[in-house]
Amino acid sequence: MPEAGNKKQVFSGVQPTGKLHLGNYIGALSQWVENQTRYDNIFCIVDLHALTIAEAVRPALLREKTREVAALYLACGVDPEKSIVFVQSHIPAHAELTWILNCVTTVGWIERMTQYKSKAAQVESVSTGLLDYPVLQAADILLYRTDLVPVGEDQKQHIELTADIAHRFNRLFGEAFVIPQPLLRAEGARIMGFDDPMTKMSKSRGEIQKGHAIGLLDSADTIREVILGAVTDSSMETHFDHASPAVRNLLTIYEVLSGRTRLEIEAHFEGKGYNYLKREVADVVINRLAPIRNRYLEINRDRAYLECILQRGAERAWTIAESTLRHVQELVGIGPWASRKTDCPPGNIGR
Ligand code: AMP
Ligand code: TRP
Repeated sequence: MPEAGNKKQVFSGVQPTGKLHLGNYIGALSQWVENQTRYDNIFCIVDLHALTIAEAVRPALLREKTREVAALYLACGVDPEKSIVFVQSHIPAHAELTWILNCVTTVGWIERMTQYKSKAAQVESVSTGLLDYPVLQAADILLYRTDLVPVGEDQKQHIELTADIAHRFNRLFGEAFVIPQPLLRAEGARIMGFDDPMTKMSKSRGEIQKGHAIGLLDSADTIREVILGAVTDSSMETHFDHASPAVRNLLTIYEVLSGRTRLEIEAHFEGKGYNYLKREVADVVINRLAPIRNRYLEINRDRAYLECILQRGAERAWTIAESTLRHVQELVGIGPWASRKTDCPPGNIGR
C-alpha cells in the first residue's frame, strides 16, 4: 500500500450529454470506484466539451445534465471524501491551458483523431472547437499532473495524443508536465450495442435506437427487455474464445459484473442456451444498477448537498490547476509577473 502523498494521480471525466449507459459504467465509472483508495482521484464533468457541437446545445438542459452526471458519479460510488469531483467550466485554467497547448500541437496530429473524424462526418459544419476537443482534453489531464486516465478503449488515442503534446511542451519550454497513461480494463473496455455487436454502445445511438443500450437509470423491466432482445446467433457457443461477437459481449458484461472467472462462467453456461444466458446477464445488470438508481434518486432530493460537493471540489481542484498553470505561464513568459510584491502607488497611474 503506497503511503499517502505517494499515490499516483488519476483524472477522468464524462461529458454531460445524452444518457449514461452500461458501457460508460463498465469502461469508465466502475474502474474509478474500484481503484478509488489506491490512487488520488479527480473526476470531472466536462461541460466545455459538450459545447463542441453548438447546434445540439440546449443551455438549460446542459446545466441539468451536468448535475445529473455529477449525481451519477456519486451514485456509482465516487466518494467525495476520497476523490475531488468538480465541473470543468468552474475552473477557467482549463481553457487557458488549452490555448497554450494549441500552440504546441500541430493540426496534423488532431486531424488524425478517429473520434474527430467520425463526429465531423455527422455534422453539417465542423467547428474549430470540435477539432480542438482533444487539446482541451489534454489540458484537463495535464493540469493535474495526472499519471493515469481510466477510460474506455475509444479514448486511448486521445491519451496518447496528450502524452505527445506534453513531451513537445517539455522539450520546447522545460519540464512542466507529467506524461499520462491510459488505464483500460483488460475486459470490458469496449462494450458493444445489444442490437449490433459491431457497433460500440454509444450515448447518441442509445438515444435514438431502442434496444441499443441500457441507461444507468433504466428500470429493471427495461433492462430485462433490452437484454432478452439482444442479437445473438444460432451456434449455442458460450466459450469466450469461440463465441460470436454478440454472445462474447454478453459474456464479458457477465464477467465484469459477476466477478467470476472465465472457467467458472464457461462451466456455468455450458449447454444451457442463450435464453438462460440472457436471463442471467439481465440479473447481474439489474443487481448492479438498482442500488445506483436508488442512490441517485436520494442524492437528487437534496440539491444543496450536490452543489456543496461541486463547489468544494472546484476549490480543491483550483489549487492544483493554478500552480500548474502559473508554472507553465512562467516557462513560456506570460501571465502575472513572478514578483507580485511590487508596491504600486494608489490612484491614477496615467501621466
Ligand atoms: P462518452 O460516452 O464518450 O462520454 O464516454 C465516457 C467514458 O465512457 C469514456 O471513458 C469512454 O471511453 C467510456 N465509454 C464510452 N462508451 C463505452 C463503451 N461502449 N464501452 C466501454 N467504455 C465506454
Ligand atoms: N473525451 C472524453 C470522452 O468522450 C471525455 C473527457 C474529456 C475526458 N476530458 C477528459 C476523459 C479527460 C478523461 C480525461 O469520454
